[in-house]
Formats: sequence, C-alpha cells, structure tokens
Amino acid sequence: QRKITIAIDGHSSTGKSTAAKQLAQELGYLYVDTGAMYRAVSFFALSENLIHNGILDKSKLEQRLHEITITFERHPENGNNEVCLNGRNIEKEIRTLEVSSVVSKIAEVSAVRSKLVEQQQKMGAEKGVVMDGRDIGTVVFPDAELKVFMTAAADERAKRRYEELKKRGDHVEYEDVLNNVIERDQIDSNREDSPLVQAADARLLDTSHMDRDEQFDTLLHWAKERL
Ligand code: C5P
Repeated sequence: QRKITIAIDGHSSTGKSTAAKQLAQELGYLYVDTGAMYRAVSFFALSENLIHNGILDKSKLEQRLHEITITFERHPENGNNEVCLNGRNIEKEIRTLEVSSVVSKIAEVSAVRSKLVEQQQKMGAEKGVVMDGRDIGTVVFPDAELKVFMTAAADERAKRRYEELKKRGDHVEYEDVLNNVIERDQIDSNREDSPLVQAADARLLDTSHMDRDEQFDTLLHWAKERL
C-alpha cells in the first residue's frame, strides 16, 4: 500500500491534534505536532527573558535561534511523541496559558518559521506522516495527498480547551481561554508570513457538533479514499 502525506490545519482547539494522533496511530504513520514546535520556541523566549511586558525582542530571538534544537521523544507508556528543547522534555510546560498567550507572536517571525518548516519537511520527507498545524497544506506540504481544514465555533473550542486545562489542574478563567482562542486565530489568520487559510484543495471539517469518534471516523474515511 502506498504511503501518503496528510496535512491537518485549522483554528486553535478544534481537536486537530487528538484526531491527527489517532489517525496516525491507526495508519501506522508518524505524527508531528507542529504547534508544539512553535510552543517550544516560545518556551525558550520566555525562559531567556526575550519577552518583556508582552513585547518580544525579535532581533534577540533571531540571533539566538541557532541555540534552539527541537526533537521529539516517545513516551514509554502512552507512545505519544513529546517535544524536547535542547534535550529537555518540555511537553507539560508548553501547554500553559502563558505559552499560549505568546506563541502567535513568536509564530509571526519569519526566521522562526523557516527554521521549523525546514525541519518539518525533513521529518515528512518519506511520507507516511500526519502533520497538524496552520500552514501544513499551504506551505510545508503543498502536494499532500490529503488536506483537511478543521474548524468549530469559537465558544465550543474555548469550552474544550478550558476543560482540558482544568482537568490538568490549571487555574484559569473561561473568559481568558476564550479570549486567547479568538486572539490567536486573529493573529494566525492575519500575519504576513504563511497566514492560516484553508488551502483551495483542502476538505473542510467543522467539529462544532462532532464528538471525537465522529471526527476520527471522518478523517479515516477520507484517508482511505487516498490510499
Ligand atoms: O496547534 P497549537 O494550538 O499548539 O499551535 C500553537 C500556535 O503555534 C498557533 O496558534 C500558531 O500561532 C502557531 N503555529 C503556526 N504554524 C503551525 C503550527 C502552529 O503558526 N504550523
């Protein structure tokens, strides 16, 4: 059976990563969470004090990009790919609202994008990959055999993200989560370099009224049509 490239893009907290991960597992494909890579760069910028009062020192970050090495490591029990920054597993640290609130600013920086896109293209070079992000079908793999664009109503997405954060024990307000979801979509969709747009040949998946099983079944069905 031939191996294909599956690109899953869309708005924040639509269920992209859960569905993409499940699909990769089912097909025996590599799963790459590109959002985790932008979050890792954000974690670096926060730890190295390159952000003051919400303002990023862009040129400092550009100068120091060579110090950043991002890798993925397989969790021994659940088999998930967890992101590492310079060898340190930071999977938990990147899922906070603090990182979420700066990541879209980091993702506007072209030097950051080109570094990460190059690595993503290498990771998917052999095909047999499910990659989720914002620019996978438009920039990283414009020739992907299957492109999906996922969306859902903003309040539904915020509710899901809020419940996820609460479950982890984070103390967050629903309003803050909702504002972050809306703000990130706004920045991601309007930035100059690789804005979030549905590729002309992407299939739209609106998950507002779909549970996880339905999302997965739809993706798997679409994938099988291309195999
Ligand atoms: O997917 P996730 O919500 O973790 O992504 C976090 C942020 O990283 C997005 O809001 C976006 O700003 C950025 N991103 C991006 N391009 C990608 C993946 C993520 O700009 N391919």
